[in-house]
Amino acid sequence: MTKIVTIPGSAPGMGAAVLISAGTMEASDVTTIAWIGTLCSEPPIIGIGVRPSRWLHHFVVETGAFVVNVPDTEHVRELDLCGTVSGRTQDKWALARLTREQGTITGTPMVAECPLNLECQVRETVHLGSHDLFLGEVVASYAHEGKEHDVSLRDPVCYIGGKYWKLGDLLGPMGLSRT
Ligand SMILES: Cc1cc2nc3c(=O)[nH]c(=O)nc-3n(C[C@H](O)[C@H](O)[C@H](O)COP(=O)(O)O)c2cc1C
Repeated sequence: MTKIVTIPGSAPGMGAAVLISAGTMEASDVTTIAWIGTLCSEPPIIGIGVRPSRWLHHFVVETGAFVVNVPDTEHVRELDLCGTVSGRTQDKWALARLTREQGTITGTPMVAECPLNLECQVRETVHLGSHDLFLGEVVASYAHEGKEHDVSLRDPVCYIGGKYWKLGDLLGPMGLSRT
């Protein structure tokens, strides 16, 4: 029989890592975030956990907005770069060769190379401890032309156990237990 033992408490990376952009077309940052989740359908709310020490953090506070840019596995190097360098000292857009495109509702720059961009307006901020939780309502969504009907996360970068992974085998559709 499986025996359950206690282990030191932690909050490990368990899902997709994304690029969060915030700021204006003149001054902005783009940073890798793995502490992220979809939390509500109506209204659509996404939560992100950001340390106050991140350069990204002050742009989100000042503008009350951010964009969730979901990269595919082709852009894993850019994703890693934006999570290991700070915009406080370097222009990550230029360093990672990422293109800024302006969001239509909040004016926040989005990462054009990402196949899915979700423009969010901050509705609430919760000070949790090491990280602040920004609850953002999705006010506009964007996909690459020709791929409007295929925006589900088919090829996300998963961040698990301090490593980047590509999704593996399909296990089946929701409801598979009934067939
Ligand atoms: C895969 C990965 C996931 C990360 N996830 C988060 C996160 O969820 N929250 C956070 O505050 N920092 C996270 N970081 C760290 C920031 O991305 C990193 O400190 C970055 O350099 C901050 O840049 P900035 O100062 O320009 O905001 C992550 C880094 C990596 C590589």
